[in-house]
This record gives sequence, structure tokens and C-alpha cells, in this order.
Amino acid sequence: MYSLVINGGRPLRGEVQISGAKNAVLPILAATLLTPERCVLRRVPDLSDVNYMARILTELGAKVRVQGGTIAVAAERVRGVAGYDLVRKMRGSICVLGPLLARLREAQVSLPGGCVIGARPIDLHLKGLRGLGASITIEKGFVCAKARRLTGAELFLGGRSGPTVLGTANVLMAAVLAEGVTVIESAACEPEVVDLAHFLVAMGAKIEGVGSPTLRVTGVRELHGAEHEVIPDRIEAATFAVAAAATQGEVTLRGARPEHLTAVLDKLQEAGTRVRRVAGGLTVTGGRRPRPTDVTTQPYAGFPTDAQAQMMVLMTQAPGISILTERIYESRFMHVSELARLGADITLEGPSAVVKGATRLSGAPVMASDLRASAALVLAGLVAQGETRVRRIYHLDRGYERLDEKLAGLGAQVRRVAE
Ligand code: EPU
Repeated sequence: MYSLVINGGRPLRGEVQISGAKNAVLPILAATLLTPERCVLRRVPDLSDVNYMARILTELGAKVRVQGGTIAVAAERVRGVAGYDLVRKMRGSICVLGPLLARLREAQVSLPGGCVIGARPIDLHLKGLRGLGASITIEKGFVCAKARRLTGAELFLGGRSGPTVLGTANVLMAAVLAEGVTVIESAACEPEVVDLAHFLVAMGAKIEGVGSPTLRVTGVRELHGAEHEVIPDRIEAATFAVAAAATQGEVTLRGARPEHLTAVLDKLQEAGTRVRRVAGGLTVTGGRRPRPTDVTTQPYAGFPTDAQAQMMVLMTQAPGISILTERIYESRFMHVSELARLGADITLEGPSAVVKGATRLSGAPVMASDLRASAALVLAGLVAQGETRVRRIYHLDRGYERLDEKLAGLGAQVRRVAE
């Protein structure tokens, strides 16, 4: 078990390369199961979640070769059973269900189980697949899906909190091989879903309306191998942007796509941060004193829930009251009590966190609970005076490629130590 030890109070300065997007590459890897032909993915981040997905594909029968930032998958023969030991560690693994069902007409995938950021049901995934003609039962902890054939249908995938990202991905991956036309209404518009759709189109799928809430899919008989470069990770970019702002530094995010970050950049500017587009990325300059802002998380193109915890750290540095409302996962506030250990003044009121600033944070040992909460604790450690020790950083390694090295490259005093 490793910890990050951070000596804070220094502005981040310099350039950082943004890696490929974790949440794009996971469903794209699942999509390689749709064809027996070889697929090649580039700009694949070296993350434990990605390695884990590669292992799942291997256990399903695919041949997976990882070389640097490139993964080649050849799923010539696949079997349709993904057990609990494979699925439980990562909820993203549920997106093998759609491709396995489409390819084999039968799949058994273990239910992924609970998650620290709140209930994460898969009812919308199942509703969509049933709509395509699958019969689905839950047996002994497995989703058992069967279909003599999948048939195009009109599907509505909106839920209580809006569209579903992986649900849209799962159903889209089944619809591309269904007979006839499928219309998915209230589809997720996240750039990661768009990236998946681009990969599927490169494989021979017919999809219209990519990036909009209405996807129209005309099923094809089979898909072929394809090559694809994964989009840069907008949440990693957002994390570094907030880090630059909160430490009052200046960081150039190489490879970041400003068009994927509009809501985050808008809020950063409202908080007094300067944002400039530069060739191949953008430069973020923290203001002398951040201004308080209110943020509500929403489906894309709204402010992403995956950047909520990080944004809260910046709010602790703004004199006055900032209110952060979480509309995607109501209990995604595990970082609040840990931030309080560094001195932050945050009160939870229902789905909102009321942040009173500006606080001079001071270093302390803290415990990471999930990926984005961990990122927020690291950011808080960079702002705090003195030493912060963030424990259980395996969460960070799931979703941030070499975060400690990248931060050190920006002048942070941070080291990884074994507990
Ligand atoms: N929901 C349902 N029923 C479903 C599916 C979702 O009610 O069948 C609800 C969820 O409970 C939640 C909302 O719909 O309230 C949105 O969840 P969504 O399905 O969009 O989340 P996800 O697809 O399971 C992905 C990311 C998450 C990210 C969310 C929201 C991956 C691997 N995960 O999850 O990323 O927070 O979209 O943008 O793509 C992370 O990277 O740290 C992370 C948690």
C-alpha cells in the first residue's frame, strides 16, 4: 500500500501532457469484443483500471497486447461469462455486457455491486437491452442475458439523474449489430460516448446523431477491425487546471481539448482564474485571490461530477461562501470530512456542500476513499502549508497516469512512499 507525501504551499508552474481518457478507453476496449478482427487503440493511459479491463478481455478469450500507449486486441473467439472476481473491482466492466450479447446472443456478467460514491444501478442498461429483444434475468448475482436475435427499437434511456454514460455505451454497442434501426433517446452526450461512437463507426457501424441526445443506429451484420486514438482525458485536464488555480500557479495543459472543458473553464474564470488557448492546449493562471462561485454538477455539457471534489478545494481558498450542489451522485461527498482535517470549513446540506473560505489549510494525514476524492485531497495537500500524507492512493492509480511524477514536473514536492 502506498501513500503520497506532499509538502504544500508552492504554486504549480510549467507544462503537463494530458493522457488518454480513462472513461473513453474502458468502453472502447469492451467494443473490441464486437469483432473477431484485430483492433488497435492508441493514446491508451497506463492505469490500473485499463490493465484490469485488458485482463477481463483476456479472460473472455481475447488476445491482448499492450505496448507503451498502444493496445492491440484480437477477439477471434470469446466466451460469454464474466464472473464476480473479474467484475467486482471495477464498475466499468459492466460494459462488456452489450458487446457479448450482440456477438454471442448470450452473456452472463456478474453484477458489479455497490460503490462508495453512492448507488449505481444498471436498470437503464437492462431496460435498453430488453428493448432490443433480450430476455434478462438476475441469477446468483449474475445478469443473464439471452436473445435469439436483437432487433432495432425506439428506446428512452433517461433516468432520475438524466442520461447514463455507460448505459448508453452498453446499449449502443448492442444496437450496432441488431437488425434494423434503433433510436436511443436521452442518450448521454459525454465526449467519452462520442469517442466510442467514432470507434464503432470506424469498425463499420452506422450511427447518426453522434454527440446529440438522439442516436440513430442502423444495425449491420458484422463489424471489422479498426484503429483509433483515444481522446485526451478532460477530467485529468480539469484536475490540473484546478490545481493551477488553487495553488495560484500557471500550468499549460498540452493536449487538453478546451471544447470538452467549457463548463469547468467557465467556472474557473468566474472564480478569477485566467484561461488562454494556446497551440495544442491551454494555459491556466491562478488569480491572486479566487472568488467564491456556485457550482451544480450536471450531465455533459454541464459541470462534471468527476471534477466536483477538486473544485471544492479551490472554493476553500475563496473568501466568502461557495455552494457546490451534486446532482449526479447524491452521496459523492466522502472528501468533505477529510478536507475538514486540513482545516476546511464545509457544511453538508442535502445534496449541497456549503464552503466557507478563505481557509489557510494545514497539512495532515488523510485517507483517500474514491478516485476523484483522492485527487481533491492531493490538490488540498498542494495548497496546504506543511506535510499532507494521502493514504490508499491505489484509487489514484486507477484513473490518473503517473500523477505524482506529473506534479513533480510542475514543481510540486511530492513523493510516493510505501506504508
Ligand atoms: N443511473 C441509473 N440507472 C442506471 C445507470 C445510471 O439510475 O442504469 C444513474 C446513476 O445512479 C447516476 C446517474 O444515473 O445517478 C448517472 O450515472 P451514469 O450511468 O452516467 O454513470 P456511469 O456510466 O456508471 C460514468 C463514469 C463515472 C462518472 C459518470 C457520470 C465510467 C467508467 N464511469 O459512470 O466516472 O462519474 O459516468 O459522468 O465511465 C470516475 O471516473 O471517477 C467516475 C466515477
